[in-house]
Amino acid sequence: MIDLRSDTVTRPSKGMLEAMFSAQVGDDVFRDDPTVNQLERQVADLFGKDDALFCPSGTMTNQVAINVHTRPGDEVICHKYAHIYYYEGGSIMRNSGASVCLLDGPRGVITAEEVESHINPDDIHRPVTSLVEAENTMNKGGGTIYRYENLAAISEVCRRHGLKFHLDGARLFNALAETGEPPEKYAALFDSVSVCLSKGLGAPVGSLLLGDKTFIKSARRVRKAFGGAMRQAGYLAAAGIYALNNNVNRLGEDHDRARHLGNLLANLPFVEHVIPVETNIVIFTLRKNGGAGEFLARLKEEDIHALPIDPRTVRFVTHLDFDDAMLMKTESVLKSLA
Ligand SMILES: Cc1ncc(COP(=O)(O)O)c(C=O)c1O
Repeated sequence: MIDLRSDTVTRPSKGMLEAMFSAQVGDDVFRDDPTVNQLERQVADLFGKDDALFCPSGTMTNQVAINVHTRPGDEVICHKYAHIYYYEGGSIMRNSGASVCLLDGPRGVITAEEVESHINPDDIHRPVTSLVEAENTMNKGGGTIYRYENLAAISEVCRRHGLKFHLDGARLFNALAETGEPPEKYAALFDSVSVCLSKGLGAPVGSLLLGDKTFIKSARRVRKAFGGAMRQAGYLAAAGIYALNNNVNRLGEDHDRARHLGNLLANLPFVEHVIPVETNIVIFTLRKNGGAGEFLARLKEEDIHALPIDPRTVRFVTHLDFDDAMLMKTESVLKSLA
């Protein structure tokens, strides 16, 4: 099976499973799990933040952060395609009682000017703007990488207006693999950062929320209230440590394969447009209206699986379990459909 639906479909490798089975564990609610503590320290240090909190999912790290940074009735500024809004089940409203101010912008990217012009005035009629969020890489934008200067400018606007700035960095490692920027330089722009171990890094579970000591103390309380505090979670943290130590430096391979697919698709007659490939996500539009269903069905006959974004648009995501042989097979199937 060739699975291009998401980079979350990877299965733990033999080395990762061995690391999990030999983990030292304890009850993490009592802060007794040495492997969770090690993972939290390792990631906090990597990004130059005071502290980190291990959570089951990226949805939880994002939503815990939103809950800490906002009060009910506040407003969160983010792109209309932001995962925190578009793909997290209404959790901003459901769990934090906050509203959203949705910005537009090419490829899911927001700018400092747009953010500043949407901060509500101090007027009792208006919700209090308290948080700005950016997503890097931007999933629905096509794996877009935010330019550092753009984020630095948004960060400056946030500081000037007393707003918090959260980064959904589910695929931040993919962005950093391309730009080569030091993680701590990047993380310094934000009050909180979420990074996922279960996307390109190939761990089965887990995300980390990063921030200063006071923030993580509050986040720990919210994680408990959301039901996300785990007990012998060291077995999962061990997978994360293995992923960080073994699977970060190879992310460029996924990007190369995605670029290969992007170039190939751009030259196929049934493809109208391919969003320029920056990382491991390839989003392309078919010429035929409603063509995505038929196209995906044809791929499925060859045991190649992908997801539609809309009736004409399809997404491929490359990952650890998509190798060169699979790339060659995908290439020949795509050419045969032309
Ligand atoms: C950009 C982004 N943020 C957050 C998440 C949520 O992660 P999880 O599926 O672990 O909740 C995802 C999931 O794919 C994502 O793509």
